Amino acid sequence: MAVVVLISGRGSNLQALLDAGLPVSAVISNVPGAAGLAIAAQRGVPTSVVPHKDFASRESFDDALAKEIDKHSPRLVALAGFMRVLTPGFVDSYRNRMLNVHPSLLPAFPGLNTHERALAEGVKLHGCSVHFVTADLDHGPIVAQAAIPVRREDTAVSLAQRVLKQEHVIYPRAVRWFLDGRLVIRKGAVSVKGNDAQLVFDDSP
Ligand code: GRF
Repeated sequence: MAVVVLISGRGSNLQALLDAGLPVSAVISNVPGAAGLAIAAQRGVPTSVVPHKDFASRESFDDALAKEIDKHSPRLVALAGFMRVLTPGFVDSYRNRMLNVHPSLLPAFPGLNTHERALAEGVKLHGCSVHFVTADLDHGPIVAQAAIPVRREDTAVSLAQRVLKQEHVIYPRAVRWFLDGRLVIRKGAVSVKGNDAQLVFDDSP
């Protein structure tokens, strides 16, 4: 009865969750050989792969994924760099118990290439968000955010690095809040019992 983490790649957010001592009962990837699987295995966390390429439709993939997740009866499903768009039916079956971390200050820049887009728009603050997953891509109720200043010399790579560092701070914190029963969703907005969820970080070197 803990957390199942879904990944597709590198797994640095997964690692942050594990480093924070969160109870991760399984890690599932849609990509065979995803680097995050090795991180989990090194820590003795059970892993499995449900390759999306083996399925003819999104629905059949999501059904197989849900079966794999439900073997662990998790309280929470945590998406950590899981690069698949999920069907509304799947999302609905984990409503209010599935979180995602996204590399922008939502609702700005949902989707991909967030750092490039932030630079192109000339935003002065950029950052990351942890949110509940809804059928509307990257638009669910926001649990926590971290903001960083955009520097004149920033590139998409340097921004990505500094934002990722903040993802590793707010994601474990948000998951802990969830597991401690401190998140309240009311009319699509999240509050944290006993804490202000809005986080702004100074990332000066
Ligand atoms: C992170 O930037 C996350 O916000 C996004 O995908 C990336 C995954 O990185 N959803 P990692 O696999 O956790 O290192």
